[in-house]
Order: sequence, then structure tokens, then C-alpha cells
Amino acid sequence: MSRPPVVARTFPALRRALAELRRRDASVALVPTMGALHDGHLSLVRLAKRRADKVVVSVFVNPTQFAPHEDFGSYPRTFKTDAAKLAGESVDLIWNPDIKAMYPDGFASKILTEGPALAGLEDRFRPHFFGGVATVVGKLFNQCRPDVAIFGSKDFQQLRVVTRMAADLDMGVKVIGAPTVRERDGLAMSSRNVYLSAEERAVAPTLYRALKEVAKRIKAGKSIESSLAAGAELIAEAGFVLDYLEARHADTLAPIKSIKNGPIRLLVAAKLGKTRLIDNIAV
Ligand code: PAF
Repeated sequence: MSRPPVVARTFPALRRALAELRRRDASVALVPTMGALHDGHLSLVRLAKRRADKVVVSVFVNPTQFAPHEDFGSYPRTFKTDAAKLAGESVDLIWNPDIKAMYPDGFASKILTEGPALAGLEDRFRPHFFGGVATVVGKLFNQCRPDVAIFGSKDFQQLRVVTRMAADLDMGVKVIGAPTVRERDGLAMSSRNVYLSAEERAVAPTLYRALKEVAKRIKAGKSIESSLAAGAELIAEAGFVLDYLEARHADTLAPIKSIKNGPIRLLVAAKLGKTRLIDNIAV
């Protein structure tokens, strides 16, 4: 049986644990998370294990990526269960710093992201979000110095922002995107799915169905505009309030008018009751 992961909560403990992991030139993969782990996260861990000798998972609910009206206070915190799940995956190290360690008094710096961070998707509805994500991910990269880092494709814009940042700032980390893991009915796994009532949960897979319908229409030669309009109608009929449903270039996230200029990524964000869900697929 493999040993349970070491849990580091302070910088000296993290440094000691990383030095131990790196003995004999072992490569290290980092999987950054905010905890409340589900099978989607565990698939990131499994990919990490294939890409490096040792796997570090960070568990930190990052306050700077939440606006004051968002769910930082109520975000699910399930460290004991998370640690047991990570032990089941033979993770080597869990980095679980507290807020004071990450943001000590006087903390006054931020990574400013442009390009994909200003694509007019999540940034339009959560303008604070990518500054907070980039800053914490930059800190996690500096703290753990991983060779590779794994991010889920469900947060597609985040994946693009972090990939750009790591390259632009010469962080020496290869960012790898992992496919979205879905429930049997197609709903993308998310820590926020626990907020859905039973009725909302039954309706939630409509988001994925609508994305697939839009992709089908575009591939059949219908215009992107009319395909998106049909998708938006399906989403609204199911009772969602749509933030956006867009077709973008998969690499740059720039708006796209024709399948000829692809590859196309369809991205959606919508609210069902109080819960905001996001999803995306390739065309
Ligand atoms: O995707 C997430 O869970 C978070 O945005 C991340 C990357 C762990 C940064 O807090």
C-alpha cells in the first residue's frame, strides 16, 4: 500500500517536502485546486501522474478570485474528504496553506492579465476573477516550482489565461489542459453543482445539450449566428438566465464568424436559480 500524502501547511514544511520529492531528479506535477474534490479533479491527478514522477495537489480557496457578492464564504470546504480521496490516488504531497501564509498583512502585488483574460467572456461578468486566479497560480508556481501543471478544460478561458501567463512570464512550467469530466447525463462536474436543488439538477444538463446542438448545426453548414440563437433559445426555455453563449477561436478566444477560420470553441455561462454554471465544447 502506498503512503498517505504528506500535508504541508507552512512554507518550511512545503520546502522540506518538495526537497524530499525532488531527490534523484524526480519531475513534479502540480494540480492546483480549491478543494471540494470530485471525479473531475481526480482525473487531473491521474493525468498528472502520467506526466511526472511526483504529484503535488494544492488545496486553497483563493479569496482574491471572488467578488464580495460571490460565494467565498459558502464555498464547500471538505478537507478531510479531499485528503482521503487524494490518498486513494497516491498523491505525494498536499499543499494546504492558510490565508495568512498566502496573503500576509501588507500584501500588495498582483499579476495583470490581458489577451485571453479580456476576451469578453468570464471577464465581462467576473471582472476581478482572472487577476485573482493569475496571482494565486503565479504564487503556487513560485512556491512549488513544478515541471508541469494540470488544469481542467471546463474552465477554458482560465486554461488559456494561465497558459499565456506561464509562457509570457517565463515561469518554466508546462501547462497541460485535461478534458472535462461529465456526469452520466452530460453535466460537467463542478464543485458548485452541490448548490443545485433536485429540480435544478434535473434541468442542468440542458447546457451541454444546447452546446452539442449548436455544434451540430454549425457542422451541418448553418451560420454560427443562427446556431447560437437556437442554442440560446434551448437554454432560456429550460429556465436558465444566460450570461453568454459564444463561438470563439479555440486558441485566441477571438470572436469567429465562420467554421473556416476555426478551430471553434463554444463557450457558455448561465445561471440556474442562484447557481452559475459554465461549460464549453469543441466544434
Ligand atoms: O480552477 C480552480 O479551481 C481555481 O481557479 C484555481 C486554478 C485552483 C486557482 O484558485
